[in-house]
Amino acid sequence: MKVEKFKKSIFGLVGKEISYSFSKKFFIEKFKKESIRHITYEIFDIPKIEDILWIFKNPYFKGCNVTIPYKTSIIPFLTEIMPEAKSIGSVNVVKIIHDQHNSRRIIGSNTDVLGFELSFKKDMKKFSCHNAMAALILGTGGVSKSISFILRKLKIPYKYVSRKKKNKDFFVYEELNKNLIKNYKIIINCTPLGTYPMVNSCPPLPYQYLSSSHYLYDVVYNPSKTLFLKKGEENGAMIRNGLEMLRIQAEESWKIWNS
Ligand SMILES: NC(=O)c1ccc[n+]([C@@H]2O[C@H](COP(=O)([O-])OP(=O)(O)OC[C@H]3O[C@@H](n4cnc5c(N)ncnc54)[C@H](OP(=O)(O)O)[C@@H]3O)[C@@H](O)[C@H]2O)c1
Repeated sequence: MKVEKFKKSIFGLVGKEISYSFSKKFFIEKFKKESIRHITYEIFDIPKIEDILWIFKNPYFKGCNVTIPYKTSIIPFLTEIMPEAKSIGSVNVVKIIHDQHNSRRIIGSNTDVLGFELSFKKDMKKFSCHNAMAALILGTGGVSKSISFILRKLKIPYKYVSRKKKNKDFFVYEELNKNLIKNYKIIINCTPLGTYPMVNSCPPLPYQYLSSSHYLYDVVYNPSKTLFLKKGEENGAMIRNGLEMLRIQAEESWKIWNS
């Protein structure tokens, strides 16, 4: 660990209405466990993305995680963007490098993709040998772009499910019937439905048609078993929450800041 390099460094999470943060807890515990001193991880709860310019001005600020709703709107404030993040259109990690000429590089990356890919692929080893693969992605926001990027990479056909009909490649929830649920064995929740404290909500699916040949992945991690996952499990489906994805993306952020 190149700790010296990080003397008097500030990292943090940039987002809006983010009083609860897994990331802050994760990094504070990590710094304590690994005796990393002189580094802080702060919450930057900003009402508009333009406020990032004030944060970037701090000479000790070396990077951040980015969350809802700024993963796309931060892109114009970067000086560089990694190819994967560019093609997804979503940045969840920013690294700042000051070079000898006192100019500043602000580099955006996406580690959500790797977090999803590693956790999902592990399950697919068990799941795919028994089942034909096609996926439904619930929601069409920031994280769903990272998920669809990986499904394309793994050559798993998918369709989005949205509240509004966008074109023929999108289903709306009302269209999901027994036949469709039978044909799409992988269902990935990329909506915030079911997140604490709204634990009694879940995406409106005909859950009664799920079976032991289905796999449900929820990017939500709080609570650890959302109503979506509970209903899947009750019908015999294999389930996974978003906690491992979150841990992996956080570890990957640290690797980027420390490289
Ligand atoms: N585990 C992880 O590492 C991880 C990483 C990133 C994000 N997340 C979680 O993923 C969730 C989504 O994040 P995001 O950045 O993609 O958010 P987002 O950009 O706001 O997108 C969420 C999407 O969900 C759908 N949606 C929103 N409210 C809904 C409602 N009331 N009913 C049905 N659908 C609704 C919308 O799609 P339509 O308009 O098309 O219906 C929306 O585009 C959040 O809870 C976040 O905490 C987890």
